[in-house]
Amino acid sequence: MASSVVLGSSPLPRHIGIIMDGNGRWAQRKNLLRTQGHLEGLKNAKKIVKAASDLHIPFLTLYVFSTENWKRTAEEVGFIMGLVKQHLKAELDFYRENRIRIRHAGDPEGLPRDIVRELEEACEDTRSFEGLQVILALNYGGRDAIVRAVRRRLASLEKEPLEKRVPEKITEEGIRGGLDNPDIPDPDLIIRTGGEYRTSNFLLWEGAYAEYYFSEVLWPDWTEGDLHSALAAYQERERRFGGRKP
Ligand code: IPE
Ligand code: IPE
Ligand code: MG
Repeated sequence: MASSVVLGSSPLPRHIGIIMDGNGRWAQRKNLLRTQGHLEGLKNAKKIVKAASDLHIPFLTLYVFSTENWKRTAEEVGFIMGLVKQHLKAELDFYRENRIRIRHAGDPEGLPRDIVRELEEACEDTRSFEGLQVILALNYGGRDAIVRAVRRRLASLEKEPLEKRVPEKITEEGIRGGLDNPDIPDPDLIIRTGGEYRTSNFLLWEGAYAEYYFSEVLWPDWTEGDLHSALAAYQERERRFGGRKP
C-alpha cells in the first residue's frame, strides 16, 4: 500500500535502528497467544525490510532478541528462536532477489547452535550483495557489546610487547574497532515502536548521536507509511553533534 507521506529533499538516514516492540501486547489485545504476536511481528519485519530496501537505505539494524529477553518463559524464548531459524531458511530467496545482505550483531555464545549455523549460512550466502544491509541484533545487548569490544581490544594488545600495553591504548577508536561490525556507520535514526520510551540496551555505543523517534503503534501494526512518517520527522531534525549551527 502506497503511503501518503511526502518525504522532503534533505538526506535520509544512512543507518536506521528499530526496536521492534509491542508484539506481546498486540496479541493480548486480540486475545491471542503472545507467540502469535511474534509471528505477526516477524512478517512485519519483512515488509519493513522491503520498504527500507526500496528507499535505498544502506543499513538497517533490527532488534530481534536482547540479552535480557532470556528472562522470558522457555516457551516464548523457544518459539522466537524457532521463528528466527525458520525465517532464515525460508526467506533466503527474498534476500537474494532484493540483493540484501544479512549480518549479525550480538554474542553467538549463548545462542542455540542451530541458530548460529543458520545465521552464519545466511550471512555467508548474502555476503556479496551490495543492496541494503540488514543487521539482526540477536542475543544483543549494548553493554555486552561494549564489554566484548573492550575484551577484543585487550586481546589484540596482548600481542604487543609488555611496555606497549599501556592504558592509553584503550581509546574510543580501539573500542569501536572491537565491536561486532566496526565497518558499519553509527545509526542516524533509532525508532522504537510500541509506546515505550527507553533504549532497553540497544546500540548504546553507536547510538550516542542518533536521532530518536518513538511511535505508539505496536510493531505488528507498524506500516511502511509509519516508516515514512519517521523519516519525514528525521528530515526536520537539526543535528549538531555538540557543535553549533553554521
Ligand atoms: C518485542 O515485543 C519482541 C521481543 C522483545 C522479542 P514484546 O514481546 O516485547 O512485546 P510487548 O512489549 O510485551 O508487547
Ligand atoms: C526490547 O524490547 C527488545 C526487543 C525489541 C528485541 P523489550 O520488550 O525486551 O524491552 P523492555 O523489557 O520493555 O525494556
Ligand atoms: Mg516489549
